[in-house]
Amino acid sequence: MADPNPPGIGRRLLRWLASPSSRWPVAVLLVAGVLVGAAMVVGTQVAIAVTGTDEFCGNACHSHRQFVYPEHKLSVHYGNRTGVRASCSDCHVPHTYPAKLIYKVRAGVVDAIAEARGTISTQEKFDAQRWRLANMVWDEMRADNSAHCRSCHDPEAWDPKKQSEDAVKQHKKFLNGKATCIDCHTGVAHKEPEEPKKP
Ligand code: HEC
Ligand code: HEC
Ligand code: HEC
Repeated sequence: MADPNPPGIGRRLLRWLASPSSRWPVAVLLVAGVLVGAAMVVGTQVAIAVTGTDEFCGNACHSHRQFVYPEHKLSVHYGNRTGVRASCSDCHVPHTYPAKLIYKVRAGVVDAIAEARGTISTQEKFDAQRWRLANMVWDEMRADNSAHCRSCHDPEAWDPKKQSEDAVKQHKKFLNGKATCIDCHTGVAHKEPEEPKKP
């Protein structure tokens, strides 16, 4: 007699997934697993590359396109004598794994929500939030001794003979661990925000 209450589709799917395979040789299952894994690794890399360009970050949301990207384009880190460009992700996204993935997913979610709510949708709103946002970036950079900056500017490669007297003097503070790059060099890709006056 037929079961009056046949199990639902979800249950049947689970049962099928849990049952040992009688049809497929283990080798086929292994190869399929490797292929699926490889596709996921490649897919992740492609997604990281596509979402890591200035074109993407600078235009992904209205607020970046309107306020942040145009300033970057005027800065020394966009166009310079030597033609080495620092892109958004060079300065803002960790360069190592898994920190890179975690940062991108978190920033993606937080930024998408803020964009949808229009947190910085107008010049006025952006100006009001800018000090807070800049401080978030400065805190991150202080916390890792300006690792992003140092990924291009290697203090070991500094030639004091080629730097101004003032730079050499101030850079000793970095070499002695008394200050980090972002303590002295703010506003290197954007307009530096001013601290709001206390009411
Ligand atoms: C992708 C590499 C890269 C990264 C990351 C980077 N820079 Fe630069 N930086 C450059 C290049 C290239 C120049 C311009 C060199 C030239 O003048 O031709 C430059 C120039 C500068 C200058 C000289 C500015 C001037 O007006 O001459 C300062 C100061 C500086 N960077 C600080 C920083 C700080 C602070 C950070 C981190 C927040 C940083 N850089 C991150 C590549 C980078
Ligand atoms: C205590 C402050 C201080 C710290 C910390 C500091 N700098 Fe500087 N830096 C200066 C000063 C001052 C100058 C000279 C500016 C000038 O001559 O206009 C300078 C100059 C520079 C220049 C331009 C050099 C040139 O001759 O054009 C670069 C690039 C630079 N710093 C990068 C860095 C990086 C990267 C770090 C971190 C590894 C760092 N600085 C840490 C104060 C600092
Ligand atoms: C050379 C490093 C560098 C590059 C390149 C760079 N930024 Fe920034 N960014 C910073 C720093 C440092 C701050 C903190 C404020 C400051 O000092 O200007 C900042 C601040 C910000 C802020 C907070 C608002 C503000 O203006 O303070 C946003 C948003 C931002 N960056 C987005 C971007 C985007 C998008 C790009 C690419 C179009 C980009 N950044 C390229 C270093 C960089």
